[in-house]
Amino acid sequence: MVAAVRVHKTGGPEVLTYEEVEVAAPGQGQIRIRQGASGVNYIDTYFRSGLYPAPSMPFISGNEGAGEVTAVGQGVTDFKVGDRVAYVAPLGGYSAERVLPADRAVKLPASISYEQAAGMMLKGMTAEYLLQRTFKVEKGHNVLIHAAAGGVGLILGQWANHIGANVIGTAGSKEKADLAKANGYHHVILYREEDFVARVKDITKGALCEVVYDGVGADTFPASLDCIKPMGLFASFGSASGPIKQFDINLLQTKGSLFASRPTLNTYNAKRDALVKSAADLFKVVSSGAVKIPVNQKYSLKDAQKAHRDLEGRKTTGSTILVP
Ligand SMILES: NC(=O)c1ccc[n+]([C@@H]2O[C@H](COP(=O)([O-])OP(=O)(O)OC[C@H]3O[C@@H](n4cnc5c(N)ncnc54)[C@H](OP(=O)(O)O)[C@@H]3O)[C@@H](O)[C@H]2O)c1
Repeated sequence: MVAAVRVHKTGGPEVLTYEEVEVAAPGQGQIRIRQGASGVNYIDTYFRSGLYPAPSMPFISGNEGAGEVTAVGQGVTDFKVGDRVAYVAPLGGYSAERVLPADRAVKLPASISYEQAAGMMLKGMTAEYLLQRTFKVEKGHNVLIHAAAGGVGLILGQWANHIGANVIGTAGSKEKADLAKANGYHHVILYREEDFVARVKDITKGALCEVVYDGVGADTFPASLDCIKPMGLFASFGSASGPIKQFDINLLQTKGSLFASRPTLNTYNAKRDALVKSAADLFKVVSSGAVKIPVNQKYSLKDAQKAHRDLEGRKTTGSTILVP
């Protein structure tokens, strides 16, 4: 038996139940790992609350982690016992040990710790596809990123800066704005106090942005569209303030022949080749020091409820991890 955090019925953070579970031997194409750390992501709150339906009940929360391979199932050729690996995989992350499909794991470079990896695989590969594939950000582009001091936000800002973009962010407090400025952002707007559209117009001298990356959802819509240049892209990649309920496609015409996308990491990295390339690109920017992974909250697995309360209460910055 190993320690894990399960959800037996959907609801608030109180439904996260710390208990002992059996972990099976790895089946065909699977590996079993002893986890060094598990990542906490906003998507974990969507499964916990029922906004996203879980494939089965009860389920172990969490889609991200890193650790050491302790057993390999039949047909696994890429990994052996003792390998250090990291992953984004189906639910099961908040656990001291777990089984996962081998084709969702990658080998972890020696220079990256388990804790760092648990804080960066899901958020960092999201930054990778958003900046390189949903829209190809180039030197000199104006880019607006909401929730700049958050987990995805701090990685996106550093990476966009590394590419050479003019990086504009929004943040919920002065402290968060200062942190974002120390992590790649050239300009940070306090969107709870300031009109972010007016500030983006001002910062870009009326030129607006090639792309807006919006993980906030309801609260920043439709204002985000007014920050985009004609024929630019609205990349709506999350719903921290709640989902956008109505999307009138005619808005894209009136706001300047805009494009809009609602991308997810699962689609972009569905194929093994894409996942391996995405992880390699992430490891490259992290290993070179161009992107640092601020793991600013670390909780014991048994304190997962507090981790969720803090994340949903806007008390966290950067990445959050759980350790067994
Ligand atoms: N589509 C994908 O592939 C993908 C992958 C990963 C993450 N995501 C999405 O990216 C977003 C960020 O994820 P994350 O894990 O890095 O979380 P996070 O940004 O660390 O936390 C969410 C942040 O959103 C901001 N926020 C604005 N309004 C909020 C509200 N009403 N309630 C709570 N927070 C609010 C807060 O920052 P301020 O206080 O500064 O406003 C908060 O810190 C989420 O929407 C997530 O679902 C999408």
